[in-house]
Amino acid sequence: MERSAGIPAVKARLAGARAVTVLTGAGISADSGVPTFRGAEGLWRNHRAEDLATPEAFARDPRLVWEWYNWRRELIATKIPNAAHHALVELERRVERFWLITQNVDGLHPDAGSRKLSEIHGNIWKVRCTQCGQVHANREVPLPLLPRCPACDELLRPHIVWFGESLDPDDLDRSVAAVGSCEVLLIIGTSGIVYPAASFASLARQAGAFVVEINLDPTPNSPVVDVALGGRAAEVVPGLL
Ligand code: OAD
Repeated sequence: MERSAGIPAVKARLAGARAVTVLTGAGISADSGVPTFRGAEGLWRNHRAEDLATPEAFARDPRLVWEWYNWRRELIATKIPNAAHHALVELERRVERFWLITQNVDGLHPDAGSRKLSEIHGNIWKVRCTQCGQVHANREVPLPLLPRCPACDELLRPHIVWFGESLDPDDLDRSVAAVGSCEVLLIIGTSGIVYPAASFASLARQAGAFVVEINLDPTPNSPVVDVALGGRAAEVVPGLL
């Protein structure tokens, strides 16, 4: 659907909806200056994901993996939420039943003030003990390598869901319930190829929701949604409220 035709329809749906779910990906943080994973400027361009974001990579070379996360932490530490993050906080305030599902680990949604959210891929500002499993908030930049657990002195790892690992079952249940029971689903800035989030557009449509995509480019979700709005998240999302 053409963008100008789509926006009034989306605004009307959002204004009348009592249950709204939002799925975000790296594209929403691109407008804050955080690199995305795929595409020309993508974060993976000079790295192979398998070398860095897997349990096998960490077992093989924890220092390399931690150096990469330290680099990302340093970069993200200089970034702040943008108008799209703030608009979603406002939407959470307005809507009776709201849930935000983000694949982003940068913490910019909670920094903006979002509270009803699942960070399904974890958070780069949290670390987890490889031995006792305790999760700690940690904003040190850079982290001294290799970081050890304050409780049991074993090796810490990023509290991130890596390739080949499962999502937290509570996060997954909550997300699937929010997607399956909403009236409007907004899908913002995700390439729509990493599961399970990649299945959320079809799931919501099957359950009768009005599904909207906001992305710079078409994605595999675009043919599935009711309205695909092309553009930058920081420009398009605030305009929908
Ligand atoms: P990707 O890098 O795969 O996709 C980013 C999407 O954002 C692309 O579809 C872009 O077209 C779009 N985009 C870029 N800039 C935008 C902007 N300013 N406004 C709107 N859209 C924009 O990122 P994700 O879909 O989030 O997983 O990737 C999913 C997961 O794959 C990530 O969570 C990460 C990665 O491997 C883990 O780290 C576990």
